[in-house]
This record gives sequence, C-alpha cells and structure tokens, in this order.
Amino acid sequence: MDQFIAALKEHYDLEITSLSQQQGGWSAFAYKALTRNQAYFLKVYDKSRASTPKWTTLIDDYAPVLVWLQQHSGLKGKIPVPLLTKEGRYTCENEDGILLLYEYIDGETIAERELTKEQVSQLAEIISELHSYDDNLPMKTGALKESFDVSFLQQLSMMLNNESNPMPSDVGEMLEPHRKRLNSLIVAVEQLSAALKNSPSRFVLCHTDIHNWNLMQSGQTLLLIDWEGLKLAPVEADLMFLTDKPYYDDFLSIYRERHPNFTINPDALRFYQGRRKLEDIGEWLEQLLFDKQDAKERAATLSGLTRDLQSLSQ
Ligand SMILES: Nc1ncnc2c1ncn2[C@@H]1O[C@H](COP(=O)(O)OP(=O)(O)O)[C@@H](O)[C@H]1O
Ligand SMILES: [Mg+2]
Repeated sequence: MDQFIAALKEHYDLEITSLSQQQGGWSAFAYKALTRNQAYFLKVYDKSRASTPKWTTLIDDYAPVLVWLQQHSGLKGKIPVPLLTKEGRYTCENEDGILLLYEYIDGETIAERELTKEQVSQLAEIISELHSYDDNLPMKTGALKESFDVSFLQQLSMMLNNESNPMPSDVGEMLEPHRKRLNSLIVAVEQLSAALKNSPSRFVLCHTDIHNWNLMQSGQTLLLIDWEGLKLAPVEADLMFLTDKPYYDDFLSIYRERHPNFTINPDALRFYQGRRKLEDIGEWLEQLLFDKQDAKERAATLSGLTRDLQSLSQ
C-alpha cells in the first residue's frame, strides 16, 4: 500500500491520507484513495498476472479518445477519464503494477440489479452517441481497429490439449463433457473471423464490455465505466451484450432515433458472442494454469469456468 501512496505523491503530487482496497473487477485491483479534500479511484494492474498486457498495452491509444469524448461529445459527465500524471502521462508504474488514477465516482454500481426504464434509456443514449463516431477523430486510432483477431485460440487449443502446462485433473474432468461443443465453437469462430475480415463493414467507437458491473448510478446520471476495451468495430461488438436482454426493444427504439437505418449483421453478432465465450473460458484456464492463486481465488475461478462451459450448450 505504501508503495502506491508514494507513487501517487511522486507522479500526481497528491498527499494521500488514506488508501483502502475496494471490491475489484476482473482485470485489476481497485483502491479508494483520499486526500484531505478529494476522493480518487486507483486501478492497479498486477504485472505478475498473465492477462495484464491484454488490458494495458492499449492504454495510450484509448485514453486520448476518452479525453476527447469527455471534452467534445455528449458523453461528457457520463464516462470516467484517467487523470494525467505530472509528466503528462495516463499511467505510472512501479515494480509490481501499472497504475491508473480516476476521480472517484460517488455512486453505486448496478451490479446484480435490473436496469430501470430510465437507466435503459440513458444507456441507449450513451451507446447511440458513442456509435456516432467513426475513425474520423483527431488522433491516431489505428491500434483500436477491430481486426477480427482470433490468435488467442491457438493458446486456448494448446491449453486444452495439454501442450502448455499440465492440466490439473479436476479441471480436465470439468472440461471433458464440453470438449466437443468447445471444439465446434472454435471452428465456427475461426470461420466467422475469416469471413468478416473479407467483408466490408462500418466501424464505429464501441465499448465492447457492456454489463451491469460496468454501469454506475450517480445522482440522476448513469455512467458507463471500464473503457479498457474501447475499439473501432462493427456495432455488434456492443449490441451482443444487449440483444438477449428483456429491455432490448426499449433500448432499440431509442437507439434507432439516432441510427434509423441500423440492422444487425447476424454473422458479426455470432462472431462476437462466440469469441467472447471462448475468451472468457481461455482466461479462466489461463488463471488456473499459470497464475498463483489461493484456495478461495481458485474456487471462484472454477465456478466461473463451470458457468461458462455450461453456457456452451445454450
Ligand atoms: N471511478 C470510479 N469511482 C468509484 N468506483 C469505481 C470507479 N471505477 C470503477 N469503480 C468500481 O470498481 C469496479 C471495478 O472497476 P472496473 O473499471 O470495472 O475494473 P475491471 O476492469 O477490473 O472490471 C466497478 O465495478 C465499480 O464498482
Ligand atoms: Mg469492469
């Protein structure tokens, strides 16, 4: 903890009076940092975790877009933007971690609750505003472009076939009944990837990780947080999280006010849903095979893996 307080002093010139760990998310540790008159949210990506590069290599590409959206778009006040260090950087790092600092959002994460009608309407406004921006932005966006990349499937196949680390026996047993479905999904996603690479589609800014743990209510305002997946991609990269929601029709009626000619591309939708499932399964396996975990963490990972494997048959 002291090392983070020192880093916040060195790089942000902040006198932190208290730092407490918060319930984190999927990719990073989370802390609430207080100075005498301000609260901050500190996200720390642990360098020893196998997944960290996936979340951190694009920070310098997506953060400028967030700053621009905050200043120039209707998303102002509805998205958190990383604070700059004294050196004008979006992150600072020490031996163990990569640190990102935000203003603290005084509000509640939606989490397990259902969205209200008003929240659905605000979410639809956020997403339709976001989707009105394409690559015509005043900064480099090349690294954010969707490439329909599925190279992670090689590593997934290696993990499944015991070619990387030996598979713990309980994990192997858990996988066994799902292997056939898993393999057919891998093939389907590879085919869709190849097809989409060759078919022209319009790319717009997409969040790519819309769920209730990434939505916070603060006063009258719904905020969409956790922008580390920001991409220029077909709209299905976002709509995949919404099409099976009970509120999808309400969402669409607002979304269509801004995007009247919009139709879903079923191939893109199937690609994103399939790739996401495989990515999630791959991350659980990566944790089980490569990360140092205590018994509690391991149990949580196993239960996440079970849930995602079961969803393959739906
Ligand atoms: N700026 C913020 N202020 C207060 N709480 C936040 C802020 N950003 C995130 N959180 C809380 O921390 C959790 C994890 O943050 P998130 O950015 O989603 O990280 P992860 O990438 O690990 O999922 C969120 O679900 C939310 O409850
Ligand atoms: Mg999150």
